Amino acid sequence: MKEKKGVIFDLDGVIVDTAKFHFLAWRKLANDLGFDFTEEQNEQLKGVSRVHSLQKILKWGGMKLSEEEFQHQMDLKNENYLSYVNEMDASEILPGVSKILDYLIENDIPFALGSASKNARTILEKLNLLEKFHAIVDGTDVSKAKPDPEVFLIAAEKLGVKPEDSIVFEDAVAGIQAANRANMTSIGIGDKTTLGEADYVFSDFTEIEREFIEKLLSKQRIK
Ligand code: G6P
Ligand code: MG
Repeated sequence: MKEKKGVIFDLDGVIVDTAKFHFLAWRKLANDLGFDFTEEQNEQLKGVSRVHSLQKILKWGGMKLSEEEFQHQMDLKNENYLSYVNEMDASEILPGVSKILDYLIENDIPFALGSASKNARTILEKLNLLEKFHAIVDGTDVSKAKPDPEVFLIAAEKLGVKPEDSIVFEDAVAGIQAANRANMTSIGIGDKTTLGEADYVFSDFTEIEREFIEKLLSKQRIK
């Protein structure tokens, strides 16, 4: 019998390019505290929760904050980040994403969101995508951050599919590692070298052929 397949999408940097807004907001925070960090360092923040991101950034700047100041800086960062998010609409959905979502809907393939973001629902609403997802697992549902597989395992469970029948789209190294640890098929969206641990990598969704998706969703397990 053909196993039921499911698809799990990361949000930031996969469905929408909010990764650039996270970078701008974190960089402003660092600059305001008197230091800077590079785009290469920023790669290490992708897929990483708000708390862990700030911990990493402070380490880079050789800084320590009181608990209260730490919370205050996180709030400031989020306010700044949301000022970008509030300007967004459906035109910001990344190229090729709507097409693949429509294909999944037409073919009755369930799909979920698996994101570390606590702003995920707000963002999906802005993009008019909230109702399309069969399940949403975000930063408010998980206790263990990627590369721990928890977020994707919960998403697969909510979709009613086995981990090995789940396909994950991710732009973060930590996210690819989480998908691999969950025994799911991992598809990197971004740079081939950075995301080398993924089963497949595409620079964006427009590069993905329909035949590839059909093959992935066919009963044959690629992994
Ligand atoms: C995603 C992004 C990270 C971000 C995290 C938490 O995983 O890739 O850059 O830090 O979500 O997002 P939040 O919106 O809750 O601050
Ligand atoms: Mg991401």
